[in-house]
Amino acid sequence: MKRMLSGIKPTGQLTLGNYIGALRNFVKYQDDYEMFVFIANLHCITVYNEPEELRKNLKDCVALYLACGLDPKRSCIFLQSDVMEHAQLGFIMCCNTYLGELNRMTQFKDKQAKGEQGLTGGIYTYPALMSADILMYDADYVPVGEDQKQHVELCRDTAIRFNNRYGKSFNIPEPVVAKVGAKIMSLSDPTKKMSKSEQTNKGCIYLLDDLKSVRKKIMAAKTDDIAKVQYDPQQQPGISNLMTIISALTNQSFDDITKNFEGKGYGEFKKYVADIVCEELAMIQERYAEIINNNVIKEVLAEGKARAEKIASKKLDQIQRTIGIEIK
Ligand code: AMP
Ligand code: TRP
Repeated sequence: MKRMLSGIKPTGQLTLGNYIGALRNFVKYQDDYEMFVFIANLHCITVYNEPEELRKNLKDCVALYLACGLDPKRSCIFLQSDVMEHAQLGFIMCCNTYLGELNRMTQFKDKQAKGEQGLTGGIYTYPALMSADILMYDADYVPVGEDQKQHVELCRDTAIRFNNRYGKSFNIPEPVVAKVGAKIMSLSDPTKKMSKSEQTNKGCIYLLDDLKSVRKKIMAAKTDDIAKVQYDPQQQPGISNLMTIISALTNQSFDDITKNFEGKGYGEFKKYVADIVCEELAMIQERYAEIINNNVIKEVLAEGKARAEKIASKKLDQIQRTIGIEIK
């Protein structure tokens, strides 16, 4: 069975974008792959988080993974910092990644271009730690949203170079970006990604939002005056985004959605979108409520840690021998 690995960095509440672009796909993939899913809490601290809030987000994230259908019997679910080998291999990968490469990463470049203050060394070397996360488990496939593809490609380049220099040490992973829903856009500004770091909350749906406010946000979503439900991300980014959400959640094609809403107004279409999204979220929230105050989270993480650690300690040992830093 091929191995698949991915991580989510819950620096805020998980969003509908995370669900459609990442989480939901992991649940599907666990039938066909040996799945490793971890909470990238070391990546979280590359920016400052209020500790109490971070703790809550991490716990919510595990609960939501489970609520969305990730099955700890089939998938290895763990906390990145529980497997200390990540940080160590992260440094080794950092030493095998060039400044030129890190400088080209758009996530960092964007932050710099925006003039964000207090950017840390951690955020700059973030992709090297991400390479370590992936290479540690010799993952074959790494499902990510569009924005993370570049980091997986950098990981590939680093691994190929490492293998050329030291002999075959790492499997070369491939990014997997879902065809539909890899980039859910903000409801209030559909030219921007739906993101938990948005300034206002209007454009972003959180998985734990109360359903009334979800409905309100969708009904207030920015559209256009073309008055036709059709997929045209250039001319109609708002409507196309809502269509993408529907298509991802119900598997309907864009053509079918267009047909169903021929001659109907945006109000009716938005109501339909709200119904579909609320139905999905209601299911998730119900399961979340059962899980969040239950010991199951601790148990799942302990199990995941034990399983991941076995692989990671072997791999790190092998790599340290290969590069000559172990004396024995
Ligand atoms: P992040 O929230 O940036 O840590 O992303 C976690 C995962 O969700 C990554 O695979 C992202 O690419 C994906 N993701 C985040 N926001 C969106 C979005 N608006 N649409 C689709 N996928 C997303
Ligand atoms: N950087 C990813 C994000 O922001 C999270 C992440 C960390 C990740 N390590 C990873 C994703 C390894 C895939 C594989 O979403």
